[in-house]
Parts: sequence; structure tokens; C-alpha cells
Amino acid sequence: MENTKQKNQIALVTGAASGLGFELALLLAKDNYDLILADVDAEKLQKAKETITSEYASEVQLIIKDLSRNNIAEQIFQDLDGKPIDVLINNAGFGIFGSFIDTDWQREMDMLNLHVMTTTHLTKLVLKGMVERGSGKILNMSSLAAFQPGPLMSLYYASKAYILSFSEAIANELKGSGVTVTCLCPGQTKTCFQDVVSNGCKASDNKIKFNIGSAKEVAEYGYEAMLKGKVVAIPGNINKFLSKLPRFVSRNTATAIIRRIQEKNREG
Ligand SMILES: NC(=O)c1ccc[n+]([C@@H]2O[C@H](COP(=O)([O-])OP(=O)(O)OC[C@H]3O[C@@H](n4cnc5c(N)ncnc54)[C@H](OP(=O)(O)O)[C@@H]3O)[C@@H](O)[C@H]2O)c1
Repeated sequence: MENTKQKNQIALVTGAASGLGFELALLLAKDNYDLILADVDAEKLQKAKETITSEYASEVQLIIKDLSRNNIAEQIFQDLDGKPIDVLINNAGFGIFGSFIDTDWQREMDMLNLHVMTTTHLTKLVLKGMVERGSGKILNMSSLAAFQPGPLMSLYYASKAYILSFSEAIANELKGSGVTVTCLCPGQTKTCFQDVVSNGCKASDNKIKFNIGSAKEVAEYGYEAMLKGKVVAIPGNINKFLSKLPRFVSRNTATAIIRRIQEKNREG
């Protein structure tokens, strides 16, 4: 008998094993997308799949890869085996705290590869099919860090500024193509991210936490913005205000304020 099940649309989410990526995957599953989830930790990703499939009927394929490796986007694209991607969420990322002179170069190269090269290359590879089909949505994960320099997290802030600039530029190029690009710029969000940045210090230990959002709320905000094709999405009024800081004070002052926040957050 002919299979009459209507084919679901397919979404590819990177960094989907936890935090914002996992919450975004849940929202996609709720909307009947089939999922391709990519992350580095097999056990965590399998758990994420089990949680999603216990609630929703989506088919879930896992890609377990370190997305900071050279040319990894090409390998992921080959793993897709020609499947059309309707939604691409470039979310995987991590932060590194410390003076540039002291931080570990290998880890920094990995972060830059992940945030800059993998995000850009995967977008390029997936975008071609989207444009040919005249439809598609891309959500790139940036940060409030994108709006000014960030002493003590200099490369993280710079890489998130790259993602914002890149996303805004291609969103403009793609006008009228049926493909939209949204750049989500969250402020502090309660996930494992802060633990990675601070090497053991929990997000809840941050001294400045008046604007910490939950992963669920931030993901919902970003997901809605992506569905609407909004180009830049900043969740929360305080974060919207903070993103405009360099308009109210000089860039030097904004940079000094960020340094003070970074220091304050990690005071003993
Ligand atoms: N939380 C915040 O305050 C905040 C604010 C603004 C922007 N963001 C951005 O939001 C995104 C998601 O972070 P999150 O807060 O949800 O943190 P998270 O809970 O740590 O999630 C990030 C996910 O990406 C995975 N990942 C990291 N490096 C990877 C690699 N090389 N290859 C494959 N997967 C990798 C992580 O796996 P492992 O845990 O196994 O390494 C984790 O599952 C990041 O791009 C981050 O920069 C976060």
C-alpha cells in the first residue's frame, strides 16, 4: 500500500543536546518538524532524542560530531544525503573567559572555527537548496555580546559580532528569495553555557543576574522571531536597552562597562 503520511519538513539544529538548542528542537518537534540534531556528546544527544520522541511524533536523526573541526560542515552536509533542510539553526557555541594573553589558543581556535567557519559554511551549503526551492528559515545564534567589544572574553564577543554582521548582510541579500535569516541575540540565559565559561562557576553564582532569562523563554522568543522572519531578535526589554549602550555612551565607555561586568560576575 502506498504510504500516505505527508512528509514533514526537516530542521537541522546544532548544539541540540542541551540549553537553547534543545529547547528550540522541542519547539520544532511540537510543530511537526522532523529533526536532525548535531552535537558533540553522544550520550547527551541520545537523551535529548529520547525526551523529544517521548513527547512528539517527529523522526529524529542524530549527528555526533565535534563541530569545531576543520571542514566539518561539508561532512555534515554529506551526512544529510540530499535531504532538503527547511530550517537550519546554527546554535552550537561556547565561551572562554580570561585575558587574551593568558587564554588557550587551541581552545580559542576551536571556538572561532565553531562560531565562524562552521556557522558560515553550513549556512552556505544549506542555503543553496533553500533558495532553489524558494523557501527556508535560518536562525543563527549570536548574543548581546555582539554589540560591543568584550574585554576578558574578547574572542567570544568578536565572534558573536561576526555572526550578527554576517546574518544581517545575507538577510538583506536574500530579500524576495523566500528564505529568511534571523539572528538571535540573547543576554544571560540559564544554561550550561555559563558553567563552561567560568570553568565550574554556575550561572546562578553570577553576581549580576537581574537579566538572566530561562532557556525555554529565550528559545520561544527566538523561534517566534524566526517564524516571522525578523532579522535581529533580542529577548527582553533590559537586553534591548543594553544592546543600544554604545549609542548612549562612547564605545570606550561601553567596553569599560562590559569589563566591569565580567570582573564582577567572577569575583570570589
Ligand atoms: N547561555 C547564555 O547566557 C547565552 C547567551 C547568549 C548566547 N548564547 C549562545 O547560545 C548558544 C547555545 O548555548 P547554551 O547557552 O544553550 O549553552 P549549552 O547548554 O552549553 O549548549 C551548547 C551546546 O552546544 C554543544 N557544543 C559545544 N561545542 C560543540 C562542538 N564543538 N561541537 C558540537 N557541539 C558543541 C554543547 O555540547 P557540550 O556541552 O557537550 O560541550 C551543548 O550541548 C551558544 O552559541 C551560546 O554562545 C548563550
